[in-house]
Amino acid sequence: MIGVYFSGTGNTKYCLEKFTALCDANAKITALEDACTPEKISHHQDIIFAYPIYYSNLPKIVRDFIVENSTIWKNKRIFIIVTMGLFSGDGAGVSARLFKKYGAHIWGGLHIKMPDCICDVKALKRAPERNRQLIDEAGKKIISAAENLKSGSPPQNGLGFFYHLAGLFGQRLWFFEKTQNYSDKIHIATDTCIGCGQCVAICPMNNLSLAQSKASAGQRCTLCYRCANQCPQKAITILGKQVISQHSVRDLL
Ligand SMILES: Cc1cc2nc3c(=O)[nH]c(=O)nc-3n(C[C@H](O)[C@H](O)[C@H](O)COP(=O)(O)O)c2cc1C
Ligand code: SF4
Ligand code: SF4
Repeated sequence: MIGVYFSGTGNTKYCLEKFTALCDANAKITALEDACTPEKISHHQDIIFAYPIYYSNLPKIVRDFIVENSTIWKNKRIFIIVTMGLFSGDGAGVSARLFKKYGAHIWGGLHIKMPDCICDVKALKRAPERNRQLIDEAGKKIISAAENLKSGSPPQNGLGFFYHLAGLFGQRLWFFEKTQNYSDKIHIATDTCIGCGQCVAICPMNNLSLAQSKASAGQRCTLCYRCANQCPQKAITILGKQVISQHSVRDLL
C-alpha cells in the first residue's frame, strides 16, 4: 500500500498519515509533488490518495497530476481522502470519476472536516479550541474508517449520485473557473517582505522567487496557501487583503 497526498498547509498530510498507518503499518507515503511519486505508485496495487477540496473541486496541481500520469492508474485500487473546511459535496467523487476513466477501481471515500486554511479571509475562522476539537473529531472518524476498510466495508463519502449533485450545484458550477487554471492573484507586500526566502523554498509549484531581497510571484499558483500561512511577516495574501490568523496543524496538536 502507498499513501499519496497533496497538502497545502498540513491538514491532508496529517489525515493521510494517520489513516494509512492504521490500514497498513508498512505502507509507504509520498507527497504528490515529489518527482519520484509516479514511479513509486506504479509498484503498488493499493493506493490511499488524499487532497484538500477547493470550491468543491480538485486543486489544479492534483488534477494535472492525475491526468498527466493517466497510465499508472489502470487496475489500481484507490481509496480517496478529502479534507475540507466545511462542505465539499462530491469531494472524493471529482477524482474518482477521473481515476475510473483511467481504469482504476474505487475502493471508497472519506471526507474529513479540518481547520480552515484560508488565512486572509474571515469566513470560517474558528477559535483554536474549536479547531482542536475538529482535529480530535477527525481522528475518531479516521480510526472508524480504517477499521471499516479493514473489515471490508470502506466508507463511500462523496461517491454517490446525490453527492455529485450537491458538489455541482452547491459550489462547483458557480466557482468553476477558480480551479481551471493556475492563478496569478497572489500578492506580496514588498514593504514588509524581508527576503528570508522561506516562501520560495516551500512553494510546491516553484512559483515564487527572490529578486533584490524581495519575494515575487509568477502565474502558476495552485492556491494552496502554504506560503501565506508560513510567511513570518504576514506579507502574502491571495484571496483577501490582510492575513488574519496563520494556520498550522502542528501548533494545534
Ligand atoms: C482555495 C481554497 C478553496 C477552498 N474551498 C473549500 C471548499 O469549497 N469547501 C471546504 O469545505 N473547504 C474549502 N477550503 C478549505 C480546505 O479544503 C481545508 O482547509 C483543507 O483541509 C486544507 O488542507 P491542507 O492543509 O492539506 O492544504 C478551501 C481552501 C482553499 C485554500
Ligand atoms: S516568507 Fe515572507 S518575508 Fe520571507 S521572502 Fe517570502 S514574502 Fe518575504
Ligand atoms: S505561491 Fe503560495 S499559495 Fe501559490 S502554490 Fe506557491 S505556496 Fe501555494
